[in-house]
Amino acid sequence: MALQNNEQSTNLLHSQAHIWNHIFNFINSMSLKCAIQLQIPDIINRHGAPMSLSELVEALSINKERAPFVYRLMRILVHSGFFMKQTISTNENEEKKEGYLLSPASRFLLKDEPLSIRPFLLAMLDPILTDPWHHMSEWFQNDDITPFHTTHGRKLWDFAGQDPNLNRFFNEAMGSDGRLVTSVILKQCGDVFKSLNSIVDVGGGIGTVAKAIVEAFSDVNCICFDLPHVVNGLVGNKNLSYVGGDMFDSIPKADAVFLKWILHGWSDEECIKILLKCKEAIPSKENGGKVIIIDMVLKNNEGDKEFVETQLFFDMLMMTVVTGRERTEKDWAKIFVDASFSDYKITPILGLRSLIEVYP
Ligand SMILES: C[S@@+](CC[C@H](N)C(=O)[O-])C[C@H]1O[C@@H](n2cnc3c(N)ncnc32)[C@H](O)[C@@H]1O
Repeated sequence: MALQNNEQSTNLLHSQAHIWNHIFNFINSMSLKCAIQLQIPDIINRHGAPMSLSELVEALSINKERAPFVYRLMRILVHSGFFMKQTISTNENEEKKEGYLLSPASRFLLKDEPLSIRPFLLAMLDPILTDPWHHMSEWFQNDDITPFHTTHGRKLWDFAGQDPNLNRFFNEAMGSDGRLVTSVILKQCGDVFKSLNSIVDVGGGIGTVAKAIVEAFSDVNCICFDLPHVVNGLVGNKNLSYVGGDMFDSIPKADAVFLKWILHGWSDEECIKILLKCKEAIPSKENGGKVIIIDMVLKNNEGDKEFVETQLFFDMLMMTVVTGRERTEKDWAKIFVDASFSDYKITPILGLRSLIEVYP
């Protein structure tokens, strides 16, 4: 394609920059993963003041011959908003030095932060979950159920049942998200749990959400229900019990079913089957029965660019590792009707996700 004028060459160069940016998007994730594995946020946090490059290099457990490269890793992470720089020296005669500080986002990547997103980051960027992206085009041409299946020859949940390492890091990742979500829900709309005597958290993992609910409401009984390889060996207490099983077979009875990050992992047909089992487990609407869902509601590209892009990332993730998808309100309404539920209420209090109450 011969270029006719200046405008065309400007377009060409813009397009090249746009393509390069997308080719190398993964470098943002991988640089962040590296910093987390080297515990850079924890080291800067422990330092308690802006930390110079030389102090950071000294504190890092690395081959000291790699010292000149630390600056470059930090430079991209400052650019992507994970660290901030501040002048350290105030003495006019001294050479100005800069030190690194945590940004609001990297505070949530600290190891000891109760609401840390670190376990989720390490799980999502583990090769078991990133390798399937290399097989997506192959999957478009074959008849496997997911790119995950094309890559690993089995479903995610079967793999997790066979590989204790995957089972452990996946459950830890979900537990960390459970802590974050319950901290917001209990603060902002604890009323959703009011007047319930019992709740079953279906696909509740290792029980992080269930534990938070029974701690907040001492007269509520909570069942954490998940596949046997997830809950086997876990010990509950007076108000909390663990039950192993398959939600497609049956769900333990309770006043409400809680489904956090469950339905987005399944196709519409599978969601309807799950919701029908939920309906069997709860009382009628008049008697207080409901299903409480935590999932995204897609806004058809409305709103902040990063927000929309992140929701689309999740949608692609659900296509790649499981059989699910993210849904618009219209998509949700359809599956609720198809599963014979009478009404629903969406409360958008969780950033990218919403709380959805569905009534039988
Ligand atoms: C994405 S995780 C969500 C975990 C938790 N609800 C949370 O958000 O923190 C999905 C959960 O569903 C569980 N799961 C998958 N298939 C299941 C089934 N057939 N019956 C019960 N639980 C299942 C998985 O073991 C996993 O814990």
